[in-house]
Amino acid sequence: MSLAVPVICVDGPGGAGKGTLSQRLAQSLQWHLLDSGALYRILGFACRQLAISLSDEGRVVAVARELDVRFVTNEAGVSVFLGDKDVSLSIRTEEGGRDASQVAVLPAVREALLCRQQELAVFPGLVADGRDMGTVVFPSAPLKIFLTASAEVRAQRRFHQLQGQGQGGSLPRLLADIEERDKRDESRSVSPLVPAEDAAVIDSSELSPDAVLDAALKLAVDRGLMSETSG
Ligand code: DC
Repeated sequence: MSLAVPVICVDGPGGAGKGTLSQRLAQSLQWHLLDSGALYRILGFACRQLAISLSDEGRVVAVARELDVRFVTNEAGVSVFLGDKDVSLSIRTEEGGRDASQVAVLPAVREALLCRQQELAVFPGLVADGRDMGTVVFPSAPLKIFLTASAEVRAQRRFHQLQGQGQGGSLPRLLADIEERDKRDESRSVSPLVPAEDAAVIDSSELSPDAVLDAALKLAVDRGLMSETSG
């Protein structure tokens, strides 16, 4: 009998702090990291570059199947490459998020990206960041975290992040975007954004990133995924 690779799923809406938590968890455990949102963002980006309509399921799927994407870990974190082009910054825009959300509603697209994500579960373990990690991609994962926060708090965080990057942004616009994206992610017919039945829900609205990490590490210890001293 082969031993299952341990996976920690971190699902939840955009801006709840999943990326930060997942990176810090992967670092603490020395596990691999899957940023599944980046896959959908790259796909949206690739389709734009090829002037393919984001609602043309057949053509978007064809691009998804051929997507030449690589995640490269370096001192700055993880860089994302499309072919030999570093697209890490280009995909992190508001427009990139909207495009990703649009291609993510297409059932055949999700199917095409499923195996790619599952193949990344290799020893010593994987922290998987997304929307459907616990419900669809890794349903038997020993720890599923659903990280959420109010839409207002998420819009504020994004606003400060954009300001920190020297980019402008309107808070009401960001809030409207977040609410629209949540609605699309929660109501799509395939893999909607919902907590897995066995997920531990953490609301980060009032928590610091350190407090969120502590709560997640405690869950990992409780599930026998790490000892108290290895964090
Ligand atoms: O986490 P993110 O903001 O990078 O994700 C971008 C979009 O991709 C988001 O609106 C929903 C979609 N997505 C998804 O449908 N399933 C995932 N596992 C990850 C992201």
